[in-house]
Amino acid sequence: MRLDVYFTPNERKPTDTVGRLVVIVDVLRASTTVATALGNGAKTVIPLPGADEVITRSKDFSRSGVKLAGEQNMHPIAGFDLGNSPREFTTEAVEGKTILLTTTNGTRALLGVQGARDIVIASYVNFTAVLAMMRVAASSNTDIAIICAGEEGSFTLEDAACAGRYVRAIPKRAESIALNDAASASVLIEKKYGDNIAKVFKESSHGQELESAGFGDDLTAAAEVDAYPVVPIYQDRQITKLGPERAR
Ligand code: MLT
Repeated sequence: MRLDVYFTPNERKPTDTVGRLVVIVDVLRASTTVATALGNGAKTVIPLPGADEVITRSKDFSRSGVKLAGEQNMHPIAGFDLGNSPREFTTEAVEGKTILLTTTNGTRALLGVQGARDIVIASYVNFTAVLAMMRVAASSNTDIAIICAGEEGSFTLEDAACAGRYVRAIPKRAESIALNDAASASVLIEKKYGDNIAKVFKESSHGQELESAGFGDDLTAAAEVDAYPVVPIYQDRQITKLGPERAR
């Protein structure tokens, strides 16, 4: 089987996701936000390409059942209920709600995937839960593609390090798993930082931007490994929590 990493969504060909388990990684912050929202009881997260689409889509719901959420240039969108800071997605704010979410890179990386067997959202806060699903896929010889959202088409250190943590954690039975070069490189990056995720964020451009913009506490939240042990799965244009009722 193949376990491939793509450091940006543009690196993959459309056929690279067909029939595969696709894992979307946008640690800062969309993946972390989605896992936090579902972990805190949101009914569903609907990813949308832009603010206009969020506003249009919200008209399909009762106002009390929906939260408009997302960011532009890291900051909350005027008139929306929530930004893209995982710390905003508390139980009080999201329990039982439908979240309409748009972000610059994360939601777009997700919306661009075609033909996958399953699409899941991964981060540090739901690391082990998603890893378990990846291990099941690997043991049944299902190819896996980890797609890093990156930033505006460029490589991001934090997504690569998180991807590497997954690649490292999947047991490689001798020669049975083929890695692409990005997967091998992601392992080297992960090994450099190990469990020092705070250092990854400190040295990453987007981590530094978030810190300067006043979102430093989001970096702390995003580094909490397994704080939200959920598998967010994207199906029928919405992300829900994989559970007994949606087992794989
Ligand atoms: C994105 O999807 O581009 C990010 O989550 C941006 C952010 O930090 O809000």
